Amino acid sequence: MSELITIKLPNDMHVHFREGNLLDFAVNATAEHFHHAVAMPNLIDPVTTYKKALKYYEQIQTVSNHSHFKPLVTMYLTGDIKEIDISQGSSDSRIIGVKLYPAGVTTNSSNGVSNIQDCYKIFEWMEKYDLPLLVHGEVNNPETDIFDREKLFIDELMLITQNFPELRVIFEHISTKDAVDFVKDSADLVAATITPQHMVLNRNDLLSGGLKPHHYCLPVVKREIHRKAIAEAAFSGNRKFFLGTDSAPHYKNQKQSSCGCAGIFSASTALVIYLDAFDKAGALEKFEDFCVNNSSHFYKLAKTDKQITFKKEIFEVQSSYAVGDQEIIPFMANQKISWSIAKEL
Ligand code: NCD
Ligand code: ZN
Repeated sequence: MSELITIKLPNDMHVHFREGNLLDFAVNATAEHFHHAVAMPNLIDPVTTYKKALKYYEQIQTVSNHSHFKPLVTMYLTGDIKEIDISQGSSDSRIIGVKLYPAGVTTNSSNGVSNIQDCYKIFEWMEKYDLPLLVHGEVNNPETDIFDREKLFIDELMLITQNFPELRVIFEHISTKDAVDFVKDSADLVAATITPQHMVLNRNDLLSGGLKPHHYCLPVVKREIHRKAIAEAAFSGNRKFFLGTDSAPHYKNQKQSSCGCAGIFSASTALVIYLDAFDKAGALEKFEDFCVNNSSHFYKLAKTDKQITFKKEIFEVQSSYAVGDQEIIPFMANQKISWSIAKEL
């Protein structure tokens, strides 16, 4: 009999469901294994208002085949967002927060923010109504070395947290030891999401022995010292760090291209990848905190009685998924992982 571990159904606090053909595929890949999931607003037509967020929520609900699944949606921060969007969003349990993309840092972020200080009035409203700020934490100066963009953004975040001490801030998909330290040293209202790729990959896994387009995401994976600090933050059980896969599907031909897209699709495999890392670190007892307790606490989310059970049995990741006449290559395609999903309730 193989070893088993059962936890409450996890929350994915950062995921990209996209639109069009991808929406149904991406939503159900997540809905199958997660209770809550926070849908990012960087669609081709970004989700910039309360009304658009509700429309996106409805689209997600319509395609979901899982009644246990509770999507949560975000609004994309632009200088045009109104106080009414913030107040309505804060009193609507389907809306979880506002996402800040510095203009041009990542996929579909051209409508993002150019000067963060211009948004201080909006942060004031968000603080007043207690609506969290989710941050893509990289500076957008194209001349800044790509490996330094997150570290340099911390100055900006420091200013935000100092000026708005009651604002809940989530440093998304952290990729550096600097970000780990910043979050640890900040007030309890500052937290971070951790992706499977930033937990298990360093930049050699992207760049050495051949370029691996399916390991390319933003923020880009960094040196081993950073990977280690991120993994240890997750394994420690510290309440400020929780699961956010940043599962971000792009079609194979857009990834395997002379100008490949940033984003890794991990929705179907992230849980066993995280679990394997926790197991190897001897931190299995903290796995449920990372997957569900920490995010439920920070975001004040209701928990579910539903559970998911994993068994220590080799699982080979599928080589690809067909979506329409296109293909999506999952994270760690064709690789063997020591854990698999046994059953969901
Ligand atoms: C994301 C995407 O493709 O939407 N890409 C990524 O590399 N993580 C956007 C993001 O979260 O930065
Ligand atoms: Zn993302």
